[in-house]
Amino acid sequence: MTASFTIVTNCADHAAGIAAITLEAFVRKYGSGDKEVAIIDKLRSDGDVLVELVALDDGAIVGHAMFSRAAVAPSTIKVAALGPVCARTDRQKSGIGSALIREGLARCKALDFDAAVLLGDANYYKRFGFTRRAAHGFESKYAGPYFQALELRHGALHDGRWMFEYPKAFAAVE
Ligand SMILES: CC(C)(COP(=O)(O)OP(=O)(O)OC[C@H]1O[C@@H](n2cnc3c(N)ncnc32)[C@H](O)[C@@H]1OP(=O)(O)O)[C@@H](O)C(=O)NCCC(=O)NCCS
Repeated sequence: MTASFTIVTNCADHAAGIAAITLEAFVRKYGSGDKEVAIIDKLRSDGDVLVELVALDDGAIVGHAMFSRAAVAPSTIKVAALGPVCARTDRQKSGIGSALIREGLARCKALDFDAAVLLGDANYYKRFGFTRRAAHGFESKYAGPYFQALELRHGALHDGRWMFEYPKAFAAVE
């Protein structure tokens, strides 16, 4: 299917619609989506949003992606956390999720972020270059098969060991 959409950043104007498509997408995939909606709200109210993008098709919301600043110690690198991300259920598999993620990563890189981290299905995120291996330097309670990283600056994760923490919104809604 060919997708037609534009990516914009005025997400505050679309907060209700973003919550609605997020809830539906996560309920469909995982059986619940309240947590993801709450994370989005709290990231905003905590002022922890780095990049937030919404995909619009003729004014209708068809996708959303959020990037926030993770805490790493020692703070020798700047790390973006990707998520939540979703495409509207009736528009999935048409390139919306990929376009949002690629645009968000490019913006994080332009903000001089060194790496991005996420929790998700490795089969999907490998297309952007995320690997479990790249996340090996991060000590985190989230470490495991879903925890992946991507260098936005070549070599940023080659050496080093960091304590990694998601922004507090993620823990607050667990
Ligand atoms: C994951 C998600 C954001 C992808 O957005 P999308 O617009 O459907 O994805 P794209 O069209 O850019 O990419 C589709 C491709 O990804 C694949 N894909 C989607 N989710 C996948 C997954 N979990 N594992 C493996 N492949 C996956 C599709 O099969 C398709 O493959 P193809 O390109 O070889 O045909 C979307 O499916 C979604 O909202 N899912 C529910 C919420 C969710 O799981 N969010 C991510 C949580 S970490």
